[in-house]
Amino acid sequence: MAAPGPVVEFYRHQLGEEEAASFRRVLDSLFLALGPEVAAFEHEMGAFLVRGRRGAEPPTVVGTSSCSMGLLIALRALDVGPGDEVITTPMTFASTAHAVLLAGATPVLVDVEPATGLIDPDCVRAAIGPRTRGILPVHLYGQLADMRALRRIADDRGLVIVEDSAHGVEMERDGVRPGDLGDAAVFSFYATKNITCGDGGAIATRRRELSERLRRLRNHGMSRAATERHGDPYRHWDIVELGYKANLTDLEAALLRPQVAWIESRRARREALARRYEARLREAVPALRGPAPSERGVPWLVEPRGTSSRNLFTLHAPALRRDAILASLGAEGIGTAVNFRAIHRLAYFAATLGVPRGALPIAEEIGDRTISLPLYPTLTEDEQDLVVAAVARAFADAG
Ligand SMILES: Cc1ncc(COP(=O)(O)O)c(C=O)c1O
Repeated sequence: MAAPGPVVEFYRHQLGEEEAASFRRVLDSLFLALGPEVAAFEHEMGAFLVRGRRGAEPPTVVGTSSCSMGLLIALRALDVGPGDEVITTPMTFASTAHAVLLAGATPVLVDVEPATGLIDPDCVRAAIGPRTRGILPVHLYGQLADMRALRRIADDRGLVIVEDSAHGVEMERDGVRPGDLGDAAVFSFYATKNITCGDGGAIATRRRELSERLRRLRNHGMSRAATERHGDPYRHWDIVELGYKANLTDLEAALLRPQVAWIESRRARREALARRYEARLREAVPALRGPAPSERGVPWLVEPRGTSSRNLFTLHAPALRRDAILASLGAEGIGTAVNFRAIHRLAYFAATLGVPRGALPIAEEIGDRTISLPLYPTLTEDEQDLVVAAVARAFADAG
């Protein structure tokens, strides 16, 4: 007998009629790949990033095929390469460290703050050496890292900052948004993100001189893209540097553009759901009302600093019971994820980075305890109550 499907999906996208109509409009046009829809989306995303700031200059936005490729292109555009070290966090998806390695540089992992799981600026400062070229913070779950502290460190030591902002475009902390203080911030429009086209990404930068290079690197290192050449008398194009095929396409931009108008109201809905989770979980799971089982100060529930994009709702279970709780939730049809196991514990990084177990204790503890629960605007309160009840049973069953 087939297993019953999930009762509550981990994520459900909201692409509908508006996105379908927008996609259809592009199908009926001349360009499908890197063309006017990408340019329009880049412009609209730039405007979104300065929303509410009267007269503010928007950053330049460059659409990419993914956040993963955006991170790599941003590092390359900043001339990070062989012989360089980039300080980053183990509390992330593999792409963050992959980007550094693929640029030919070496990721140096440092520990995170217990309360948030965000890269710890004191650990960053302590890890700076003669080969350090940059810092790559990750805005984990949608909380902005302490960009003011990181920018101060970068300025003191002449470093660049690339922000991994895969978990949102909406966040703000101490008046700072993604791309405000970093040399570049990179977003993801992967299938489970707050705005999505299946796979896609973008880079925001306030360094105008970088944007031309970013555009070239995403398009093979080519001097002029095909749509820029269209309609002109033929002229030879050139390849002026080693590049990638890593652009956003017009078809993807067509799916993204209608979603920009909904970003803030959908964030507000996830915020309300996250607050409701916190209250209901504390009511239903007695353990969550007591002190967390942590010598290092890792809490049961993460209280975001500033405005979080609320891309992920994360709970920290007791380490030894985490996997049993995940199994129990799975058996009840509740979709879950783990964001993330500390990456130096994953086979490839364990074999290549040489960071021993125990070296980054806070990240390891969070990685051993993390469970992400379903969180998206169409999640109903009834579904949320099913999740909370299942979490309560899972905690009780797991002893
Ligand atoms: C923190 C983080 N960085 C980077 C990525 C890579 O994003 P993409 O799938 O758009 O390449 C992800 C993907 O989920 C992520 O969670």
